[in-house]
Amino acid sequence: MSVLIRGGTVVNAERSLRADVLCHDGTIAAVGENLDSPVNATVIDAGGQYVMPGGIDPHTHMQLPFMGTVASEDFYSGTAAGLAGGTTMIIDFVIPNPQQNIMDAYRQWRDWAEKSVADYSFHVAITWWDDSVHKDMGTLVHEYGVNSFKHFMAYKGAIMADDEILVNSFTRARELGAIVTVHAENGELVFRLQQAIFEKGITGPEGHPLSRPPEVEGEAANRAIRIAEVLKTPLYVVHNSCIPSLEAITRARNEGQRVFGEVLAGHLLVDDSVYRNKDFDVAAAHVMSPPFRSKKHQDALWRGLQSGNLQTTATDHCCFCADQKAAGKDDFRLIPNGTGGVENRLEVLWHHGVSTGRLTKNEFVSITSTNAAQIFNIYPRKGSISVGADADIVVWDPEASKTISAKTHHQNVDYNIFEGMTVKGSASHTISHGKVVYSDGELKVERGAGHYVDRPVFAPYYDALKIQAQRDEPVPVSR
Ligand code: URP
Ligand code: ZN
Ligand code: ZN
Repeated sequence: MSVLIRGGTVVNAERSLRADVLCHDGTIAAVGENLDSPVNATVIDAGGQYVMPGGIDPHTHMQLPFMGTVASEDFYSGTAAGLAGGTTMIIDFVIPNPQQNIMDAYRQWRDWAEKSVADYSFHVAITWWDDSVHKDMGTLVHEYGVNSFKHFMAYKGAIMADDEILVNSFTRARELGAIVTVHAENGELVFRLQQAIFEKGITGPEGHPLSRPPEVEGEAANRAIRIAEVLKTPLYVVHNSCIPSLEAITRARNEGQRVFGEVLAGHLLVDDSVYRNKDFDVAAAHVMSPPFRSKKHQDALWRGLQSGNLQTTATDHCCFCADQKAAGKDDFRLIPNGTGGVENRLEVLWHHGVSTGRLTKNEFVSITSTNAAQIFNIYPRKGSISVGADADIVVWDPEASKTISAKTHHQNVDYNIFEGMTVKGSASHTISHGKVVYSDGELKVERGAGHYVDRPVFAPYYDALKIQAQRDEPVPVSR
């Protein structure tokens, strides 16, 4: 089966060029001018459009069991919604309960993800520690293509990783050649602040951001960074929402440390006024952690992307409908944390990033796919329009205009944090594994067509770490 994308401008992270793209049997077979169309090929006229690597969302939570409920978006509907917006791969999270066998949790998530219509992979969260976890990290790396381990520094009493867990897991990850990632919020401080705020009589969603101020995020980001520095482990800080965490990352990068930072489309574009909305459903729909921040933080995050101190964008797609959010009607601490956006990330970033002149088109590709592919070591199979790469492609119409709404989106949730936002520029066609799965507003997906993506360890930045370590003090060994 062949698809020929004709007459567009190919935009990669490193350069743009006028070229046709031929996809054959799931991969890109040719990129060049005036390519011949094979017999029976589907031909897409991309005149006036951009042909870019499909988006990689490195942070989603499909059907996550969390805070007493389960995220409304499952792997089928969530990956389909992603395709409708030009995202062709997600990296989701296996999150074992404390004391749950890691391999059992991993198998459970793999089973849930079988119905995905686009490619997927998993970061695995380390939520507790003993010898079996040490061993299972090795098994996941060597037999299951996992190269990243996640640590929640918040959610005390549930999945929070304390310093002892961080040190054990970071040390082990370093040994295995994996990268560690953190949700950076000081869980103890959040817990105490939540109590104090609730006891003061603030019970509604406005209490949520008060209990998670920027300092709490900055402290945790800096702590994780310093632990990673001592243990010489590459680190990826997820969903940076504020100046203190961005500053911690920037400082470390200026010192030569291998630290990477992610920012969510929501944190760039939605501000904290949403929590003061008098309608509980609206305010609660925006309850996520870290919370949305004020404009000065948003401006800093955009500059973080422009400067390269933040490298990736994601959505933390973790949807709960109004009836689920209602669990916290009388106590903001019980509102399930999470919002959506996997379908809209590319279009809101194009509109507010490229069309405003903040980002070049090539930088747009870097922050929506290529950098994630490089950091998580699947480049150039993903994140590149080049011969031999997976034919995961978005054809982008810069003139198409739409107004985002929960009434028309494909996401399985009753709210959209970008509700009412009119954007110019969106996916006209999405190609996944060489098949046209979305064209002109219509999805043609096949349940289970998504593939699990193995991610090898020892990404290129490990070479640099090895050379550095030979010059420095010994690297600690795991127990
Ligand atoms: O509020 C959020 N972000 N929910 C999903 C879990 C997480 O912290 O990433
Ligand atoms: Zn998180
Ligand atoms: Zn998350």
